[in-house]
Amino acid sequence: MTAWRADLLSDTLTQPTPAMRAAMGAAVVGDDVFGEDPTVRRLEEQVASRLGHEAGLFTPTGSMANQLALRLHVRPGEEMLCDALAHVVRAELGAAAVFSGISSRTWSAPRGLLDPADPLALVQTGVGPYQVCTALVVVENTHNFGGGTVQPLWAIRQVRAATRGLGVAMHLDGARLWNAHVATGVGLAEMGSHFDTVSVCLSKGLGAPVGSVLVGSQAAIDEARVWRKRYGGGMRQVGILAAAGLYALDKHVDRLAEDHARARRAAVAFAEACPASVEPAMVETNIVMLATGATGWTAAEFVAASGQQGVRAYAAAPGAVRLVWHLDVDDAATAYAIDVLTALLRERPR
Ligand SMILES: Cc1ncc(COP(=O)(O)O)c(C=O)c1O
Repeated sequence: MTAWRADLLSDTLTQPTPAMRAAMGAAVVGDDVFGEDPTVRRLEEQVASRLGHEAGLFTPTGSMANQLALRLHVRPGEEMLCDALAHVVRAELGAAAVFSGISSRTWSAPRGLLDPADPLALVQTGVGPYQVCTALVVVENTHNFGGGTVQPLWAIRQVRAATRGLGVAMHLDGARLWNAHVATGVGLAEMGSHFDTVSVCLSKGLGAPVGSVLVGSQAAIDEARVWRKRYGGGMRQVGILAAAGLYALDKHVDRLAEDHARARRAAVAFAEACPASVEPAMVETNIVMLATGATGWTAAEFVAASGQQGVRAYAAAPGAVRLVWHLDVDDAATAYAIDVLTALLRERPR
């Protein structure tokens, strides 16, 4: 395994801290398929109440939480709408179609940001036997490939108001909703309550080794619990993992501000080295998307060159490099990454 001096590949890489491991070791557990794991119950209740929903369901992954939500809201042959870079259509390997017979239509959104006109131009209900009916709009907040952008609440409210009367549901992929909450100070319930269901991840910025929670009405979560078991996601003494999530909710939410500050500090340095590579004011949370087009590097070349000096990054597109700050990237690693990456940005190979 390479010992990276700054590993900015993803916020999923974090190692559980010693205190988190101790909390996991001390967890009281039971068989969760029989509803007998008190630690899982506590996690589900806590996340649901923080997000302003009735009930929650612990899932192994964010993808499963999303796919359970899609399954609940969309019948086979109906469609969901989302932006073209949303995780549900870009990175869940066609699961909506494979498992639930769902078709998808997308809009393109600069920086992933929701413009109500985009989904509302696509929504079609009651279109009879010839066309596909829309059953769901999915919003991602923060938006991963948009560069960690925070969705405007006014836009969410507007889509909700327009779709509610049509019987179109809304699901929030809130894998990094914690980051949006910390960056804006807007309450989690305020951001989550406009949606029928919300999925949140414990294994990204919060630093738990595994786990997500899907929240919604009691009826929706009861149904999702059945589908989770059917998908093979019924877990037994899994309080040992839920304990990591509970620990993270207690200790690792507010500290996300440190990740945001480091990402912004790096973006300022990158913009000084190459102004066209990034606009620091647009870095709202823990993700920096570097546009390599103006630097003379392709994203793949840039990532290879930075990797040779111990800074791991991700080529998100031919002209875009993604850098993600997290629990295991401290000030020293950030300073090192800034040195290496600004030198590359100044180098301009062609
Ligand atoms: C926005 C978003 N949603 C969902 C997921 C899925 O999470 P998991 O990897 O736990 O399936 C990810 C993973 O990176 C993500 O970035």
